[in-house]
Amino acid sequence: MSMTRCIRWPRLLTIALAASGLSSLAILAQQNPVVSSYGPTNQTQTFEQIKAGRMAVKAGIAKAHADLLKSRYNLDIKTDPLAKMSGGKAVPVGPTAKLAGVTWEQLGKMTPAQIREKGIFPYQPLPFPDHAEGGMLFPEMTIKPLPRLVRFDVDFDLPEAVLPDAAPAIYLTTRPDLGDVAKGRLVTLSNYYEIFNGILNPKQIEGLRLLLTQFPQQQFNATEDRRTDRADGMIGVTCFDCHVNGHTNRATHLVGDIRPQEFRHRINTPSLRGVNVQRLFGSQRALKTVEDFTEFEQRAAYFDGDICMATKKGVNIVERGSQAHFMAEFMEILDFPPAPKLDIYGELDAAMATPAELKGEALFNGRARCASCHPAPYYTDNSMHNLRAERFYRQELVDAMMMAHDGPIKTFPLRGVKDSPPYLHDGRCLTLEDTVEYFNLVQQLHLTPQEKSDLTAFLRCL
Ligand code: HEC
Ligand code: HEC
Repeated sequence: MSMTRCIRWPRLLTIALAASGLSSLAILAQQNPVVSSYGPTNQTQTFEQIKAGRMAVKAGIAKAHADLLKSRYNLDIKTDPLAKMSGGKAVPVGPTAKLAGVTWEQLGKMTPAQIREKGIFPYQPLPFPDHAEGGMLFPEMTIKPLPRLVRFDVDFDLPEAVLPDAAPAIYLTTRPDLGDVAKGRLVTLSNYYEIFNGILNPKQIEGLRLLLTQFPQQQFNATEDRRTDRADGMIGVTCFDCHVNGHTNRATHLVGDIRPQEFRHRINTPSLRGVNVQRLFGSQRALKTVEDFTEFEQRAAYFDGDICMATKKGVNIVERGSQAHFMAEFMEILDFPPAPKLDIYGELDAAMATPAELKGEALFNGRARCASCHPAPYYTDNSMHNLRAERFYRQELVDAMMMAHDGPIKTFPLRGVKDSPPYLHDGRCLTLEDTVEYFNLVQQLHLTPQEKSDLTAFLRCL
């Protein structure tokens, strides 16, 4: 339909314009009453009308999503008081996934076809809270100090116990002697200068300022097509609204590069710690540099990959030679958190590790073959792999999302992994125990309960 239109319009216009003195816009409007004289826009509805439409469906969609989460996970999350993230928050303990009439041992013995047949795979793709709508969505712990990030139409869905520290630690590759420089503070435009002046050079400080500066985005902008009430000066998002303190709060949105909507992946904000040693950026986009990602995040991902909307809502083009470069220079000094049990090869120091952790490492490098994709020292091969999890489930619509193939996904580094629940590109594994169960199935490893617990003990050391 739209294809035909594209081809037909120019010819019609030429003829019509030649024959009469009418403006091209007037002719467009006459030819197709659905198209306003400015083409198909959302300006036919006011902000109040758009908001009313969204509010009318909010509760129903939220209930359906909450029911799905409850059917998949045990959301009464336990934590381990002895295991702490670098910022001090207790590490959540799983597995949280619910099983339908089988034990983990029985499930581990079944083939992918048997699991698909019975419809009992516990880690299907995780839909966005309102998948048909999408957009940037921030957890409560971030909205509380930054109320400009409230969306009126969708609330964040996962419990705070399976999210990272609210104000994560910051480690600089350039000043390891300082340890955590954030010290529990949420870095914003109002305190960054005091915290970083004297330990960064002027170029890095300017890069940090830009990472903390709000720019318009698809849901947070001044037009009628926004999802925030705040039509005042407080509109827009900053890079660190999601990559909080250079790490992550696991804010979520839909990936920009897939269509149609139901096939788009929910994505879980990755940490920026350790981008200096990585070579591919984005779960699937595989951009080659941090500078590219910085430039294109704002040009495209901020607007769902819709270049027309980007212009209308006020895209800020980051100047490559200075701004993108300065921002990248700051991101490239964000270090992984200290891992006191690892030696200079990134392997366990036998004198410091427990027997369980050492057994876990041996499994990781040996029978479980984790190291073939996650080699030390950073526990990534800087590549992408297709884990073909779709072997375990049927392609069907769930909660407005197609349970489709994931495709090749970036091997996220496992250094510092205990600091960044929930896991996988969409956050479907809420705890490290869940990731071990996931790989036990995906790789068909037949691990014993003891082996699984050893592997988790090792992951917590990284
Ligand atoms: C909604 C929260 C959000 C905001 C705001 C945001 N990001 Fe991201 N960022 C993400 C997500 C989600 C991904 C993963 C993208 C994907 O999978 O394709 C990502 C990926 C990245 C990556 C690649 C990381 C990796 O490990 O592959 C970089 C670098 C990055 N963002 C930088 C930025 C910069 C710079 C800004 C500001 C211009 C920014 N981000 C704003 C959520 C956000
Ligand atoms: C064939 C390659 C491959 C193997 C083998 C593999 N992984 Fe992974 N791993 C990946 C990829 C790719 C991802 C990202 C998947 C996604 O996000 O959907 C990943 C993600 C993870 C994550 C989540 C990281 C994060 O930040 O979200 C953990 C934890 C993990 N792997 C642990 C393991 C363990 C433990 C093993 C062995 C039992 C293992 N992996 C085996 C490729 C592999």
